[in-house]
Amino acid sequence: MSKFMAWIDQRLPVSSFFRNHLSKYYAPKNFNFFYYFGGLALFIFILQIVTGIFLTINYKPDAAQAFASVEYIMRDVNYGWLIRYLHSTGASFFFLVIYLHMFRALLYGSFKKPRELLWIFGMLIFVLLIAEAFMGYLLPWGQMSYWGAQVIISLFGAIPFFGESLALWIRGDYVVSDVTLNRFFAFHVIALPLLLFALIYLHLAALHTVGSNNPDGIEIKEMKDSEGIPRDGIPFHPYYTVKDIYGLMVFLTIFMFIVFFLPEFGGYFLEKDNFVPANPLKTPEHIVPLWYLTPFYGILRAIPDKLGGVLAMGLAILVLFILPWIDRCPVKSIRYRSVSYKILLTLFIISFIGLGYTGMQTPTTIITWMGRLFTLIYFGFFIALYYMSPNEKTKEVPERVQMDE
Ligand code: HEM
Repeated sequence: MSKFMAWIDQRLPVSSFFRNHLSKYYAPKNFNFFYYFGGLALFIFILQIVTGIFLTINYKPDAAQAFASVEYIMRDVNYGWLIRYLHSTGASFFFLVIYLHMFRALLYGSFKKPRELLWIFGMLIFVLLIAEAFMGYLLPWGQMSYWGAQVIISLFGAIPFFGESLALWIRGDYVVSDVTLNRFFAFHVIALPLLLFALIYLHLAALHTVGSNNPDGIEIKEMKDSEGIPRDGIPFHPYYTVKDIYGLMVFLTIFMFIVFFLPEFGGYFLEKDNFVPANPLKTPEHIVPLWYLTPFYGILRAIPDKLGGVLAMGLAILVLFILPWIDRCPVKSIRYRSVSYKILLTLFIISFIGLGYTGMQTPTTIITWMGRLFTLIYFGFFIALYYMSPNEKTKEVPERVQMDE
């Protein structure tokens, strides 16, 4: 075996890769619950690719056949229902996991120096993931697929001068049609997954260059022993490989329960209107995206002007890119930050969930005003953080990471 490995190693650096990134890669010893989600996101990405390949085997990207081919997968293909439900539930869980993964960064200041690039790659992944989900949703060619795409693409029409031409260029037609379906299919199954793959690689390369942050926000590389090993680090393998497998098992228990018993999740994971074939002559009463996009949709709808709404929605995502330069507090972890930051972050999370809620509801006067209030809080968070963070009353940060005994 060792002879065989030596033969391989002379031709491909397998052993040194294993050492540098697993058995001799030192991660902080105090990772908590929130540190499961990066690994889980990676698992779901692979799950989506594998189930996606099997769906593509029987799916027909043709406006006349798409809806029926999905029904065929559900009823006639062996375990087709399982493959489809894994993929559709996987999409919702992908966002759930990513939102928790991002929230962790806000808790522990993981986007701050030296992890700005890691964060920016993460944000690019997030934007692509939104595009990937949006394009995938057109493929079953149900009522909500069709009208959702119609509404979102028409938003580009709000841009002055060239907006209408841009919308036409994206659709490839004057309305969402077979042409649109074909190009969305190409983007969903190959172009965007390839880009996502590349970005995930860069995300992880950046992570292994700077090393992980941790719940105390202390740089473990600054405190090394005589052999150059971080005093508060433990080898990723076997410690975190085993811990991540445990996390994956818990995750799979919950995930598979939903796949088997609640795949539509009351219309949140698969909308009721999408069990009706697309009908360009009949608009559904309420056009709503799936839950994971409603926080941004909530911002769009809170603003009366179409262009203003589109700009605010774009800004809501763009502002996250520059978070490392908005939050200027030298202390990373929320454990040692001021009460004001704790209050601000709580308000921000309430506004995000609130926008997710208002974005889903029929827009009555109360809902619209709630949406406006949450939008103000959402943007207010960044403004307040910019001015408050340099002068925050922080607690003293310990030299070494803290462990609960
Ligand atoms: C397909 C999507 C993604 C995958 C597979 C992925 C994977 C990972 C993995 C495996 C880690 C290390 C484990 C952990 O800290 O949980 C990590 C860390 C990190 N990720 Fe992601 N990630 C993804 C998306 C994102 C997004 C959307 C963001 C933010 C916009 C982000 C920001 C970060 C940050 C800041 C860290 C370092 C956290 C720390 O050390 O405290 N990631 N990512």
